[in-house]
Amino acid sequence: MTTTTGQVRYQFEYEDPIRCAFIGAGGHSYRNIYPSFQYAPVDLRAICDLDGDRAAKYARIFGAAHTYTDHREMLERERPTAVFIVTAYDPDGRLQAVDLALDCLAAGAHVWMEKPTATSTAEVEQLQAAARSAGRTVVTGMKTVFSPVMSRVKEIVSGPEFGGPSSISVRYPLSMPAYERRADLVAMNWFLDCIFHPAAVLLHLMGPLDRISHEWEERTGASVTVMRFESGAIGTLHLTAGESPSSPSSRVEVIGDNANVVVENGTSVTYYRPTPARAYGRTGSFMVPTESAPLHWEPEYSYGQLYNKNLFYLGYVDEIGYFCDCVRNGTTPELGSLDQAFHILQLFEAYRRAEPGTWTTVKV
Ligand SMILES: NC(=O)c1ccc[n+]([C@@H]2O[C@H](COP(=O)([O-])OP(=O)(O)OC[C@H]3O[C@@H](n4cnc5c(N)ncnc54)[C@H](O)[C@@H]3O)[C@@H](O)[C@H]2O)c1
Repeated sequence: MTTTTGQVRYQFEYEDPIRCAFIGAGGHSYRNIYPSFQYAPVDLRAICDLDGDRAAKYARIFGAAHTYTDHREMLERERPTAVFIVTAYDPDGRLQAVDLALDCLAAGAHVWMEKPTATSTAEVEQLQAAARSAGRTVVTGMKTVFSPVMSRVKEIVSGPEFGGPSSISVRYPLSMPAYERRADLVAMNWFLDCIFHPAAVLLHLMGPLDRISHEWEERTGASVTVMRFESGAIGTLHLTAGESPSSPSSRVEVIGDNANVVVENGTSVTYYRPTPARAYGRTGSFMVPTESAPLHWEPEYSYGQLYNKNLFYLGYVDEIGYFCDCVRNGTTPELGSLDQAFHILQLFEAYRRAEPGTWTTVKV
């Protein structure tokens, strides 16, 4: 990958950056996406936002030559190779990015879009068809799977020593509306927005889901889902609405066969490697052999290193670098692909369809 697995290159060091345009000059893009371009082969030609004044301010700050309030005019005049889309929702709950992405693909541009990719599997299919007929790539910014921590966990659980993932538990703070309100897309916008994060991790580490059943708590909207994956592995997703805002939010644990790996708070990883069993009642030391002892990684926070920026440890720089690699090398994305978005939207639709306490297959 362009970025964290090797030496990081700065934007101005690329000789053949990609001619890019950007739709959206909002809060998240200001904090996390435009700043990530400092480490990507991006030549930001133009920014479009319905608020022309904000587009102009962002253009000055992030170095774009032109601004627009109409994306079609921008596509026509700038002829970008790739477009980044970071927009939000219409009042009826529809995602603005879907139609924008379809327009970009029709104009011959590759598309990077923020999650959620769409509000339904039908919309993802529309994007898949448009991408196919345009011969262009669409990548969604599923940041966590691009984070250095999750890349290492994926490596660990895929190695022969781990014995294949057999079960997983994921915790993430998110409230789910009551079953009766789930047909209302507006009521479901926040859930859709956030479910992409834990769902992308589940899919990345375990593969596609077969079936789920969830229980739901009425005061907070917290839920616990029991899941079975197509591989036969099992898992739980605990959406911890009601937790304190001061609490670390996420925890992921994958179990293999005589091995497990735990990620706490997005940055701390412990790999409990396969090690010989200890005779019960006859073992006087808890120390396991050094060659099979647990491995533990956590960051140091003292140096002005790139890895100490959230742009790096949350996966933003790598999700953008990965897209740029796909565009420049003509490779088909696996991570953040429309196929992955389709699976995540299948899970979203399963929650809308299935009452608490019942089982549903995730594929219909
Ligand atoms: N991955 C993450 O960590 C993360 C974090 C926060 C938000 N997000 C995602 O980022 C997206 C944006 O969130 P936000 O809080 O920045 O929203 P926002 O409302 O601050 O920004 C959206 C911008 O899009 C512009 N826009 C809408 N339609 C447009 C159009 N047709 N043409 C041009 N501009 C248009 C709006 O004017 C606005 O400036 C959401 O999809 C959200 O899920 C992701």
